[in-house]
Amino acid sequence: MTHEKKILNVLKGGKETIPPVWLMRQAGRYLPEYQEVRAKAGGFLDLVFNPELAAEVTLQPIRRFGFDAAILFSDILVVPQALGTRVWFEEGEGPRLDPVSVENAAVLANNNLDLSLLNPIFETVGLIREGLQREGFSHTALIGFAGAPWTVACYMIEGGGSDSYAKALQWVREAPQALEQLIDALTDVTAAYLIKQIASGAEIVQIFDSWAGLLKDPEDFRRWVIEPTQKIVTKIRQFYPDVPVIGFPRGAGPHYRAYIEATQIQAVGLDQHVTMNKAQKYQTLIPVQGNLDPEILKTGEMLDASIDSILETLSAGPHIFNLGHGIHKDTPPAHVTRLMTRIRKAA
Ligand code: CP3
Repeated sequence: MTHEKKILNVLKGGKETIPPVWLMRQAGRYLPEYQEVRAKAGGFLDLVFNPELAAEVTLQPIRRFGFDAAILFSDILVVPQALGTRVWFEEGEGPRLDPVSVENAAVLANNNLDLSLLNPIFETVGLIREGLQREGFSHTALIGFAGAPWTVACYMIEGGGSDSYAKALQWVREAPQALEQLIDALTDVTAAYLIKQIASGAEIVQIFDSWAGLLKDPEDFRRWVIEPTQKIVTKIRQFYPDVPVIGFPRGAGPHYRAYIEATQIQAVGLDQHVTMNKAQKYQTLIPVQGNLDPEILKTGEMLDASIDSILETLSAGPHIFNLGHGIHKDTPPAHVTRLMTRIRKAA
């Protein structure tokens, strides 16, 4: 028996009979206790920038389910804010940003970035660590995070979410210089942001590249997904050589292997489209995290069999149990309880 936190052991390549588990977006609207705090805070960003309340909603799923890791409650779109972009959330519609144009990419890139705008978030990180200690969750690790430059650039270029990210893909083809200016600026600020999260108490950081799968061409994938991620990892290593970085290049498909081999991350998050056969192969290279389909957790159909299949396939190597993407807001909390019981009884 080791007293080390389970997830940290796995991130070093160790195995656990019962894998550590946490869920992407584990704090959120599927929890009634979240809804309550959210209503009290006002807007979503008011909640993110309120350290006491943000720490509280981070701890809620830990109290209810006992996950092996807490993840900072924040959003990937606070980084464009630090670069001087206006960001807001339309109720029921998702994020909106003042879109960046090809012409003003350089201006934005040369803006004096103001990381102090994110001070409340660093304060939240400290409060979560204290809360975990105070409430007896000394085996729960704290994960910080940021969006990857490509994914954040997608939102900045489109001015919000999009079905196709046609404008961002148009920059790839027609305005690579402007895209490079934007991605380089995001790479610098994201590295600095993650380093400050670690300085404030984050024990692991995850880089969410939710739209990595839009880039089908290997050269595009290398330039806009792999390279920026690798630069961020290198910068973090200069300050914190032992803090693990989890990369999540959602939808990377045939590019997962190159991503694993080139970025120097400690573990890779796999989306639900990665087959068990592939997952096992990646696990020979690096610890893997994932990859239950969030839809299965929501409906509960085939839930036990799907959990067992993942556990069985990945039990021979380092594995962190998680979803293949964020938990759906209509997921019954009882399904998460069922998932936890299933995983922890499987030993
Ligand atoms: O995992 C966690 O529990 C930590 C909190 C977290 C949130 N967003 C809270 C949130 C994390 C890690 C994120 C990451 C994030 N944010 C990503 C990457 C992961 C992914 O899902 O692909 C992205 C793309 C975003 C941007 C974003 N934030 C969108 C597109 C939306 C609207 C869609 C939605 O689900 O409502 C958000 C809002 C958001 N971020 C909510 C939460 C809990 C819902 C806001 C609310 O309470 O109304």
